[in-house]
Amino acid sequence: MRKPFIVGNWKMNMLQSEAIVFVEQLNNIPSYVEVGVAAQAISLTNLVGINKNILIGAQNVNDQLAGAYTGEISVELLKEAKVDFCIIGHSERRAYYNESDEKVNEKAKLLIERDITPIICVGESLEQYESKQTEEVIINQISIACANLAIEQCVIAYEPIWAIGTGKSATSQIAQAIALLIRNQLTKMYSLEQANKVRIQYGGSVKPTNIKEYMDCPDVDGALVGGASLKLEDFKQLINYEEN
Ligand code: PGA
Repeated sequence: MRKPFIVGNWKMNMLQSEAIVFVEQLNNIPSYVEVGVAAQAISLTNLVGINKNILIGAQNVNDQLAGAYTGEISVELLKEAKVDFCIIGHSERRAYYNESDEKVNEKAKLLIERDITPIICVGESLEQYESKQTEEVIINQISIACANLAIEQCVIAYEPIWAIGTGKSATSQIAQAIALLIRNQLTKMYSLEQANKVRIQYGGSVKPTNIKEYMDCPDVDGALVGGASLKLEDFKQLINYEEN
């Protein structure tokens, strides 16, 4: 059985002092879900270990081990900071920092070697969605970004770009259909047994009011949440989705 995994992606929000209070106060995690928050890099060392029920993750890592890459964060530093997971290939990083599927694949390998769970993000643009290219785009992204990995150790996040931060979430039917498409693609690349172990999240305007619909989908195993993860009460409500 895949345990659902809900992750708050704080992006470039939250002061370290605010992040610490948030993680300290994020209690009463239901036993049916695993919960994580992805914070800005400078906060990570101070967030790890303050609440053993919450996984702490980074939002990016460089694809090189060390060297002259001003401003970048290395996988060794994440390992030293004892982070649990790292988001890679988020659409904002693809759009603003030229992150390609090939780079995402390199980053995933470095993370897996150090026991840090990669959350590999894929998703189509509004234009691709409207011209019915979603399936082709996702299969292409998965084929490259997820090639030759210890795939059971990865989490995949399906995040249609048109749903991120727009309030226009994808229907649960779309989320389920694409999650299944991803699982089928992983079955082709690996095996059914391995593909069935991979957790696939949905992301894009997930809120306390719609989370349950996604969690009820058989192939959706969690959510990657931006805006609604910034307020403690909203996030608490979200992760207690069975109670609402
Ligand atoms: P959103 O962001 O929940 O604010 O749409 C999701 C994400 O970018 O991961």
